[in-house]
This record gives sequence, C-alpha cells and structure tokens, in this order.
Amino acid sequence: MKLGGKIALVTGGGNGMGRAYCHRLAGEGATVVVADIDRAAAERVVGEIREAAVPLEVDITSQESVTRAVRAVLDRHPGIDILVNNAGGAAGERALLVDTDLDTWNANLLLNLTGTFLMCREVIPSMRTRGYGKIINVCSGSVFSGITAALFVAPERRNNLVPYLAAKGGILGLTRALAREVGEWGIRVNAVAPGYTLTERAKRTLAPEAPPQVLERQIFRRPGTPEDPAGAVVFLASPDSDFMTGQTICVDGGWVAH
Ligand SMILES: NC(=O)c1ccc[n+]([C@@H]2O[C@H](COP(=O)([O-])OP(=O)(O)OC[C@H]3O[C@@H](n4cnc5c(N)ncnc54)[C@H](O)[C@@H]3O)[C@@H](O)[C@H]2O)c1
Repeated sequence: MKLGGKIALVTGGGNGMGRAYCHRLAGEGATVVVADIDRAAAERVVGEIREAAVPLEVDITSQESVTRAVRAVLDRHPGIDILVNNAGGAAGERALLVDTDLDTWNANLLLNLTGTFLMCREVIPSMRTRGYGKIINVCSGSVFSGITAALFVAPERRNNLVPYLAAKGGILGLTRALAREVGEWGIRVNAVAPGYTLTERAKRTLAPEAPPQVLERQIFRRPGTPEDPAGAVVFLASPDSDFMTGQTICVDGGWVAH
C-alpha cells in the first residue's frame, strides 16, 4: 500500500477515467474524495469503493464552488496530499474553428484549463503548510499530434477539436511553470496524457467502437480503457515519483510515438 494515510481528491471522479483513478488510489490505501459536478455519480463511485471514500459536489469552473468544496474537505481532514485534476472534456457546440463562436472557445478553456487553475490555487496553500503535495494534471496525448479520434467520425459527431486541444496544451505549460514555483514547498506537479479511451461518454458522444484510423496510428492496436492510465496516476501520487516534477507521462498505446 503506497498511499496509506494520504488524502486524495479526484475531480471528475464520478465517471470514466476519474472513476478508475478513485478505485486505484483507494486500493493503495488513500482516503479518496470523489469530487464531481454530478453528485449522484460521485456517490455511486463512493458506494463501489470498499475502502475509505467520500463524495464531494464541485463545479471546477466556479470559483465559489471550488472554494466551498475545498474548505469542506479541509474542515474534516488535516490536508489534501494528492490532487488529481481530471475533470474536463470537449465543451460547447461542435464546429470547425472557422465556425467556432467565442462562447465555445471560452467554455473549453474554462472547463479544461481554468478549472485546473482554480483547483490548484485553492489546494496549494494547505500542501505548502504541510511541506508536501502531489498534483497530477490531465492533459491529452492528442496535444502532441494535433489529431484526436474526433477527426475520424461522422462530421456531425466531430468535437470542437481546436479549442479543446488548445486548452489541454495549456495544461502542459501550467504543469511545467507551476512545478518550478511550488517545488521549494515540497509540491510536485506532473501530468498524465491519456490517448484515445473508450469511456462510456466517448462511446455515447463520439463513436460506439474505436475508429480504425485511430488504432492504426497506435503501436498497440486496441482502444485505451479507463483503467489504463490509473497506474501512472498512482505512480505520480506515490513517493516513488518524488524526484519527478514538471513531467508528462503519455499512456496511449504508442499514439505519440509515431
Ligand atoms: N476519453 C478520452 O479519450 C480522453 C483522452 C485524453 C484525455 N482525456 C481527458 O481525461 C479526462 C477524463 O475524461 P473521461 O473521458 O474519463 O471523461 P468523462 O466524461 O467520462 O467523465 C468526466 C467527469 O467529469 C465530471 N465533470 C464535468 N464537468 C465538471 C465540472 N465542471 N466540475 C466537476 N466535474 C465535472 C463529469 O460529471 C464526469 O463525471 C478529461 O480531462 C478528458 O479531457 C480523455
């Protein structure tokens, strides 16, 4: 058990990869705060986890909600040792960039980049006080190629690729720059970049099966599962990675290796 006695907060923990992170972190002994805008989903995951877990309702895009939620955790626990900024996804109307309105652009930055900023800003002071902390941001392997699975599905199902990837690219800059700022306080900031992952949401909104063009670009020709990046998250949360900061681990079946 690598994480005994630690408190881990996972945003977007109610579904998809966030749910898998909650299960694995709890399995390693952490008390997991399953934080999600969807309280019922968070409660469902808490019910699945046999180890210690608590639900937390939070909208990471709202300063007021983030402040209230983090305070509620800190009222009950001595601190937050591990913060996984996982909540995110493509937001707004689907369109090519030339047809993208400002609201959609802003919605993608808000959910994927500003939400991570707000969570980091709220949690870091308590990590600083304790002289230790692990922040794990969630990027996307597609940032490195500019290609997502959305390119290979019917036009009406295509995500708004450019604003989403621009926001995820911002996560890389945030991760590296923040790592420099908070290193002297004992806080490590790293990222995971999952590849194409067949979550329930991806099946519903993009395509029920992996588009063959996606698998052809990978070295391992199967779609990612929500469990695939969970080992990297546990590693980045554990003391095994204490000498690492500002790094991004791609868990993508070799998508980025091309
Ligand atoms: N699925 C993929 O192929 C893929 C690939 C690379 C990166 N990612 C990234 O991985 C992360 C998880 O993706 P997923 O496919 O598992 O997502 P998902 O849609 O299955 O789950 C996302 C969770 O976040 C919650 N959420 C949404 N908005 C929120 C908000 N404002 N505040 C708090 N919670 C909120 C949802 O309720 C949901 O439970 C996202 O950041 C996504 O961009 C996904």
